[in-house]
Amino acid sequence: MHVVVTGGCGFVGSALARRLVEWLPAIRVTAFDNLRRAGAETNRSLLRSLGIAVVHGDARCRSDVDALPACDWLIDAAAEPSVLAGTTAAGGGGTTSRQLVEHNLWGTVNLLEAAAERRSGFVMLSTSRVYAIEPLARLPLAESGSVFRLDTASPLPIGVGPAGISEAFATAGPVSLYGATKLASEALAIEYAAQARTPLFINRCGVMAGAGQFGRADQGIFSWWIHAWAARRPLRYIGFGGRGLQVRDCLHPDDLARLIMTQLSTTATGPQPLVNVSGGLASATSLAELSAWCADRFGPHEVAADPAPRPNDIPWLVLDHGRASQAYAWQPDRDRLTIFEEIAAHAEDHPDWLDRVAN
Ligand SMILES: NC(=O)c1ccc[n+]([C@@H]2O[C@H](COP(=O)([O-])OP(=O)(O)OC[C@H]3O[C@@H](n4cnc5c(N)ncnc54)[C@H](O)[C@@H]3O)[C@@H](O)[C@H]2O)c1
Repeated sequence: MHVVVTGGCGFVGSALARRLVEWLPAIRVTAFDNLRRAGAETNRSLLRSLGIAVVHGDARCRSDVDALPACDWLIDAAAEPSVLAGTTAAGGGGTTSRQLVEHNLWGTVNLLEAAAERRSGFVMLSTSRVYAIEPLARLPLAESGSVFRLDTASPLPIGVGPAGISEAFATAGPVSLYGATKLASEALAIEYAAQARTPLFINRCGVMAGAGQFGRADQGIFSWWIHAWAARRPLRYIGFGGRGLQVRDCLHPDDLARLIMTQLSTTATGPQPLVNVSGGLASATSLAELSAWCADRFGPHEVAADPAPRPNDIPWLVLDHGRASQAYAWQPDRDRLTIFEEIAAHAEDHPDWLDRVAN
């Protein structure tokens, strides 16, 4: 089996490429990346040392994509992944709205065309940020210690339950420009796969976290927070009263890799039901809780309060991965404390990491 991983030098793409060659000895993997993300370069020689071919190319460029070899599967992990990308807010990787659409939507169209021509299966890494911002921002929440909790005694919108946000939650915009590029890519991927009768899996991923992530304040928050704490960089609780009560769940890329391995063994054709893939409620953590963990691990460090809201921000976002669990007999293995410790150990081994991955 030959698998092409686009964004293959990124945090998730490189982890998927590595696990595929480790777990499936007969596989051939090609990583395709334009190396635009600061830090992506660090993965190139590691991948090559594992026998993974690394092709430097840009998904926006039709001739780069046309030069890709024939493959059985194309896993699309190339994107500008920040929810602030394309906005004028600080962060967002300095990406303009046009660049965001070109990377995340036109790039996907080029890859879908290539997959259709090669009759390859397609795995798309979508995002929890396809869910509508307004109803997410209005979820009934209660404060409990240093964390927001979903108030399950109040009426909840469709697609919300004690386990979090399911695939039935509203996707009508605004969902952020980032979310919209992913939602549009999902819609196009479904049409391409239905027409070509090639297998398609859409995985709506929650927040991913692990060692080696190119964390920034706007993207890769668990990695950024732990590295910044270890390096005694300035940290701020932004929005929601400036106390760090906002909550996210987190998933390790190895757990995503296990799920994708199951998907690659399918004999089904056409689009398969899309699923949320996340750490779920068991891994949900507020920033204040993460700070308490960091203080235990690295000693005290001050976090400033910045109550001014940030665009597209949401106080509580936990993805319910129940459908994926049922469809693939899948559960995340890595709990949040294991993930935090992995990042902390990486921070100790790489004290200059945030400089190396800063755009
Ligand atoms: N990290 C998360 O928390 C998270 C959550 C949900 C979904 N996702 C999705 O997972 C995928 C991977 O995210 P990640 O966290 O690894 O991001 P990342 O920034 O670490 O990796 C993305 C890689 O894609 C490359 N890239 C960007 N534009 C490209 C282009 N036009 N052509 C070729 N390569 C290009 C970058 O150089 C980078 O190496 C993305 O599609 C993202 O939207 C990530």
